[in-house]
Amino acid sequence: MQTKPSMLIVDNDMDHTRELELAFRKEGFEVKVVSDFGHAKAELRRRPPQALVMTNELDDGRAIDLLQSSEVIDNKTVCVVCVHDPAIQDVGEAVNGGAVDVVEKPVFPGHLSAIIGKAMAERRNQSRDSTAAKAIDSMARPPIIGSSKPLKALMDSLNLVIQAPKATVLIEGESGTGKELIARAIHYDGARKNGPFLAINCATLTENLLEAELFGYEAGAFTGALASGKKGLFDAANGGTLFLDEVGELAPGLQARLLRVLQENRIKRVGGVSDIEVDVRIIAATNRDLRHEVNEKRFRADLFYRLNVVPLLVPPLRDRAADIPELCAYFLEKFSSEMGKMIRGFSPEAHARLARYPWPGNVRELRNVCEYAAIVCDGEAIEKRHLTIPETQMEQQADTDTLPLKDMSLRGMESELIRMVLNETRFNITRSANILGINRSTLYNKMRDYGLQRDECPRVRQSV
Ligand SMILES: Nc1ncnc2c1ncn2[C@@H]1O[C@H](COP(=O)(O)OP(=O)(O)OP(=O)(O)O)[C@@H](O)[C@H]1O
Ligand SMILES: [Mg+2]
Repeated sequence: MQTKPSMLIVDNDMDHTRELELAFRKEGFEVKVVSDFGHAKAELRRRPPQALVMTNELDDGRAIDLLQSSEVIDNKTVCVVCVHDPAIQDVGEAVNGGAVDVVEKPVFPGHLSAIIGKAMAERRNQSRDSTAAKAIDSMARPPIIGSSKPLKALMDSLNLVIQAPKATVLIEGESGTGKELIARAIHYDGARKNGPFLAINCATLTENLLEAELFGYEAGAFTGALASGKKGLFDAANGGTLFLDEVGELAPGLQARLLRVLQENRIKRVGGVSDIEVDVRIIAATNRDLRHEVNEKRFRADLFYRLNVVPLLVPPLRDRAADIPELCAYFLEKFSSEMGKMIRGFSPEAHARLARYPWPGNVRELRNVCEYAAIVCDGEAIEKRHLTIPETQMEQQADTDTLPLKDMSLRGMESELIRMVLNETRFNITRSANILGINRSTLYNKMRDYGLQRDECPRVRQSV
């Protein structure tokens, strides 16, 4: 039997807690409400919850201090702080303390539920993927949406690759264009689909750890090694596919070892003496220009040619604008049905804005914009005001017919951009950080650096 996820609400505002309690019970949570710090501590000890929703000031203490309790940390509890007026110090403290978000009251339960649901799914993925490699489940092969000419050409090449189950593939494209999606399609639509699809991001581990992950090691190979030794990913992906994301980040020593695997289909574990034969299709991806890396002598030319047997270039979204309406419709339908809403489409103004925007974060950014719009939309159509797209300089210029930015220094531009995004999101730190592509602590530090506080940051422009 599946147990219900548990939630603890810590707040002395009864109206607020009642509404949340009802909403989350309906969503299948087992909810417990307490109104003071002492009871909250006791409840955490009794049963550490999966989700913790709290206000900050309580009569007998600061709920935010609960973030430091060992029960919350050990249990990887998803914490959200709800406050009347998110002062920047509190936001910084909460975020740095590990809260996934700080939400302004009154809180809309649907919005909170989306934040918590997403964070819980991420934590589940992280615990499944303790070594940065992910075994893929039934969500493994989402559809590839779009029918623009460049995407059709890519799909044609993809179909050829699928027919050649041993060929090594190099997928190039900007961040968020869909490289991993393409890699999964190659695996799951081809002859290797019954074998494993394993993915590893070459940029996330140090050279030694990555080497141990990829090749495995023998017992006692180095200090801290498991007594039993460990299978590497090449070994574990036998019969299937190994997806090497951000392959341009591989250190020179590992580039040489990877080349050997590609040439000989054999690996040697760290500390091992004999070779192990492996049958793995390698799909590598990069958002760097690998040819340039080769010219700069940062990437081995021989490895580049070995990887580049079948090159696939995923075009940026701005070069296939014809896909935008289809992608928007797909994501809107997906998110609105997940949230139980009946949103039918986009207003003409919203459509025009989506079509005009250059999408520097590509499909991932478009997906995030649609998800947020579905959360905040309470009618039948997404309006322009539901879209968290920063106004481009061109749009500003068209509106005002004057040069929009006086300070063209990088710092000046950065501070202006952050200010614009914060205004657009009404100082929602998590969403702003997502849009800007930085983490929340970095955003918080930059806000402090540029003096971007809520009260001192008048709306420069209204986008709606
Ligand atoms: N054509 C598409 N149809 C549907 N969803 C897409 C499409 N392209 C990308 N996506 C979605 O956009 C998100 C980003 O895609 P993905 O992770 O594959 O990008 P990426 O190129 O690997 O990015 P990065 O370089 O940052 O790792 C994913 O949620 C993916 O499912
Ligand atoms: Mg990727």
